[in-house]
Amino acid sequence: MIAIHNREGSFSDKWIEYCDIHNIKYKLVNCYDSDIISQVEDCDGLMWHWPQTDFKAAQFARQLIYALELKGLTVFPDSNTCWHYDDKVGQKYLLEAIQAEIPDTNVFYDRTTASRWAEKTDFPKVFKLRGGAGSSNVHLIRTKSQAIHFINKAFSNGFSSVSRIGLLTERLWHLKRDKSLKAFFSIGKGLARLFIPTELEKQLNKERGYIYFQEFIPENSFDIRIIVIGKRAFGIKRMVRDNDFRASGSGSIVFDAEQINPECLKLAFEYTSRIKAQSVAYDFIFLNEKPLLVEISYAFLHEVYRKCPGYWNDNLDWHEGKFYSEWFNVEDMVNSIKEKNKLKNKSL
Ligand SMILES: Nc1ncnc2c1ncn2[C@@H]1O[C@H](COP(=O)(O)OP(=O)(O)O)[C@@H](O)[C@H]1O
Ligand SMILES: [Mg+2]
Repeated sequence: MIAIHNREGSFSDKWIEYCDIHNIKYKLVNCYDSDIISQVEDCDGLMWHWPQTDFKAAQFARQLIYALELKGLTVFPDSNTCWHYDDKVGQKYLLEAIQAEIPDTNVFYDRTTASRWAEKTDFPKVFKLRGGAGSSNVHLIRTKSQAIHFINKAFSNGFSSVSRIGLLTERLWHLKRDKSLKAFFSIGKGLARLFIPTELEKQLNKERGYIYFQEFIPENSFDIRIIVIGKRAFGIKRMVRDNDFRASGSGSIVFDAEQINPECLKLAFEYTSRIKAQSVAYDFIFLNEKPLLVEISYAFLHEVYRKCPGYWNDNLDWHEGKFYSEWFNVEDMVNSIKEKNKLKNKSL
């Protein structure tokens, strides 16, 4: 039996559908309940898609998952898959440790060391907060004095992880891009948000006490995002915004398998096995055609990938046809529970 935390609009919609179609026993649980451990007492596994915007989950999801793993449950996402989620600082150490090819990345935890570094390095550099998506917390630092300004802020008031000006600029870009009614109305919302903080913003702490700078890799007009789930991979090409270096969140997406660099697929499979993760989305940019990894994430906007024409297996054989990536999660969950039970029976 699998426990599923049901959140409408998340991966769980298709998880439940898959279980219904394939007669897989499941029960719906609520991970936010204090008695969650006893709720899953009769289960072999737990599946819970918590997003990075969920500040409640950020407080305990990893701890709950670790505890359940210790209890013998198979969990999606498991610890290896999610400990670095929405945490680019954690990812720096992880990706260096597995010897992934990444742009040179520096993190400092005090003003003096950061300033000393800024004095002797060259610019531009890319500044990032540890969390955030859709490029919202990623900025180009063009000069030393700009870097010093950011360093001073990091070690005083800190940064808000939700930039309201940034959100409005983002809405304007989407209006320019697709000129839909929806994009038009979102401008009004963006203007209102300039003055009224959301519940999420009120709950979030300021980002301070660290600063992250990454080597800037120029002349990338797109990034390649590969998602690996078990032994399958699919991908998209995302074009950068006009007059910008950032692709993530631009909304200009190419769903053409021919344009997915096979080198990225190979690296994505290789890195997944080194991280020992169940599901990883990889953002690759390029330096002289060599793929460099800038971000990983266990979760992604699953509905976007419905438009992918197919997926590859780990031998890079192509499987043509539409798919639901969430179904892959359940397939892998069921197989891993079966494997575990086989081992258990053997040792009895
Ligand atoms: N070091 C870099 N050099 C050049 N472009 C970068 C670099 N890091 C990120 N980018 C661009 O910025 C986008 C957002 O960066 P990313 O680290 O993936 O943050 P996010 O979590 O916002 O997606 C990427 O999709 C890529 O196009
Ligand atoms: Mg990204």
